[in-house]
Amino acid sequence: MIPIVPVDARPLARPSGGSASQEHRTRLVALPPLTLYIHFPWCVKKCPYCDFNSHERRGGPSTIPEGAYVDALVSDLDRVVPQVWGRRVHAVFIGGGTPSLISPAAIDRLLSEVRARLVLEADAEVTLEANPGTVEAGRFADYRALGINRLSLGIQSFDDRFLAALGRIHDGREARDAVEIALAHFDNVNLDLMYGLPGQSAVDAGRDVAIARAWAPPHLSLYQLTLEPNTLFAKYPPRLPDEDVADAIDVAIADEVERGGWRRYEVSAYARAGRESRHNVNYWNFGDYLGIGAGAHAKISFPDRIVRQTRLRSPDLYLDRAASDGAAYDEHEVGLDALPFEFMLNAMRLVAGVPATRFSERTGLSLARIEGPLARAEARGLLVRDALRIRPSPLGLRFLNDLQEQFLATTPPPTTGR
Ligand SMILES: C[S@@+](CC[C@H](N)C(=O)[O-])C[C@H]1O[C@@H](n2cnc3c(N)ncnc32)[C@H](O)[C@@H]1O
Ligand code: SF4
Repeated sequence: MIPIVPVDARPLARPSGGSASQEHRTRLVALPPLTLYIHFPWCVKKCPYCDFNSHERRGGPSTIPEGAYVDALVSDLDRVVPQVWGRRVHAVFIGGGTPSLISPAAIDRLLSEVRARLVLEADAEVTLEANPGTVEAGRFADYRALGINRLSLGIQSFDDRFLAALGRIHDGREARDAVEIALAHFDNVNLDLMYGLPGQSAVDAGRDVAIARAWAPPHLSLYQLTLEPNTLFAKYPPRLPDEDVADAIDVAIADEVERGGWRRYEVSAYARAGRESRHNVNYWNFGDYLGIGAGAHAKISFPDRIVRQTRLRSPDLYLDRAASDGAAYDEHEVGLDALPFEFMLNAMRLVAGVPATRFSERTGLSLARIEGPLARAEARGLLVRDALRIRPSPLGLRFLNDLQEQFLATTPPPTTGR
């Protein structure tokens, strides 16, 4: 599943930054497209399956220090803007957590401060994540008027039984109302649904997608419930559907998706033509993203190096650091050994894969460097390639970890050069 906090592929650990020797790397000819991720770290209630950087406020949501948090985001952005001077931003993603807890006045200030510091493309996609338990029609109208043009709703299920099993703060009625209100104000809407839920059958899972189909939203994200370490579900695991039921759920979902006319373009993402999430597609193409807010990640390319940044995860520490005018992030250069895996970890999530030239464009490494793992993955039927593209096979998409892990330890080809 994805956090695009920003979107991460979870199951495999990344290799460490490693040494950043430049001996086999060429300068990037062109820098990749750039997006901006803004993390909002609070929720009304922590869901038992969720390992995102999201926190309940002891005194309730009304005690969230939203003004101070916007100040902190702005000072965070001020520090990193010089690193992307002159580059245009083509998408903004406000994720969480539950960003729909932010008042329209605070969103207004935040977006104005962003626009004062970064050049947003005229048609930039600006997404906000919303929880159906926090939806009010007036608020959605305001968000739209302020420049949010895509809404991502965390529906999870329309069925009260499964919403209760997931510890959600909303029921099926509120989920449906949220979709109605969202579509009344936004033409670009994503619905997040989860499947493989405790006690769920294939009929149940298909029904959730069929209900979504009735509204024909432009985008769907379908995530299989995973038990993440350090969550309540990891400690007290619910009984999940067995393998046969899980297979039947896959079939039921695929049928409904086909009926709905969405095209699967990433492991968990389905869209109508032209409605793919621009922020996420950039991420999976090893594009660049600034990431501000507690726990946010960033990847920034320079002609001679690629750096990653990680912000302080604790909202309180993040706020304190910003108030004392200190940097709220650590930065490291991505080492040569880590680059192929990092690239393939993302690129192989895309159903259509990537142009063969993208690897060199984005990493500065020769494609020959990963010839061994490419050939091995191809021989195992996990990957398909020709002169133009590299893409996962249907088997590779199904066993994505196996495919990605081929690229964990890549050694340079025998010849010298890049
Ligand atoms: C950060 S949440 C944002 C949406 C909003 N906070 C909400 O939950 O309504 C992004 C999505 O990740 C998915 N998700 C979170 N934890 C998951 C897990 N353990 N397994 C599968 N999907 C998960 C959910 O579908 C959720 O909507
Ligand atoms: S509302 Fe969303 S981000 Fe918050 S705890 Fe639940 S799944 Fe996680």
